[in-house]
Amino acid sequence: MKIIDGKALAAKLQEELRVRVEGMAVKPALMVILVGDNSASQVYVRNKARAAERIGIKSETLFLPESTSEAELLNLIDKYNADEQWHGILVQLPLPAQIDEDKVLLAIDPNKDVDGFHPMNMGRLWTGQPVMVPSTPAGVMEMFKAYDISLEGKQAVVLGRSNIVGKPMAQLMMDQNATVTLCHSRTQGLKAICQKADIIVSAIGQAEFVKADFVKEGAVVIDVGMNRNAEGKLCGDVAFDEVAEKASLITPVPGGVGPMTITMLMKQTVTACERLTA
Ligand code: GUN
Repeated sequence: MKIIDGKALAAKLQEELRVRVEGMAVKPALMVILVGDNSASQVYVRNKARAAERIGIKSETLFLPESTSEAELLNLIDKYNADEQWHGILVQLPLPAQIDEDKVLLAIDPNKDVDGFHPMNMGRLWTGQPVMVPSTPAGVMEMFKAYDISLEGKQAVVLGRSNIVGKPMAQLMMDQNATVTLCHSRTQGLKAICQKADIIVSAIGQAEFVKADFVKEGAVVIDVGMNRNAEGKLCGDVAFDEVAEKASLITPVPGGVGPMTITMLMKQTVTACERLTA
């Protein structure tokens, strides 16, 4: 068994990005909007700002009150869409109940949609012409590349069907000629499906859901989960210690997929800037 070191890979890729940005005449600029006081979101936006600073990307985080109306947020998005100094716009999710998330994602200029959540970017991905790709699945694909994991003809199982992770993950692996089974909370016989998989990517959001008896000997196991277990400790979707004994490669939590997600967001911001200023 080998552990995939997401932290080290992210650091290497961020350093490459820093050098790339150094050579750019126009520096990339990312506007991050956080509405309300969700404590997890506050940690995420802080980490994004820190990564941006390391790489030389200009970033600003706009903290809006919990009571912000949908119209106010949409007006701000219009303003930043039109403002050429910003190449990326990111609205941190989840949003307070009075704001329709779908409307907000639709309002962001697809060329500045560094999260890749706009329906146009989702559609481009599904039709095999990816432009802006959601960061977490993009980060998992970078891990496959860095660790020479070929997807060609492989049986891959994705657990979780979210727009942010599960669906784009399945598409990206299909693009590399994997045969993908997309499972979710209502899937019958889920364990038996996992047992056949060469590669499992879990984004189901349940602590230690994937146990050793789900996993084929020598499988690759990628854990996108970020959960707290009964003792309040941060853990993934995979029961790491027992699954590690059977897997050929496995990601830890923390230090696996998480650092790659932020890195891919930064890469997408750099690419968006290059495209918008070309
Ligand atoms: N909330 C949880 N993950 C994400 C993400 O990748 N992007 C945004 N905008 N919000 C999130």
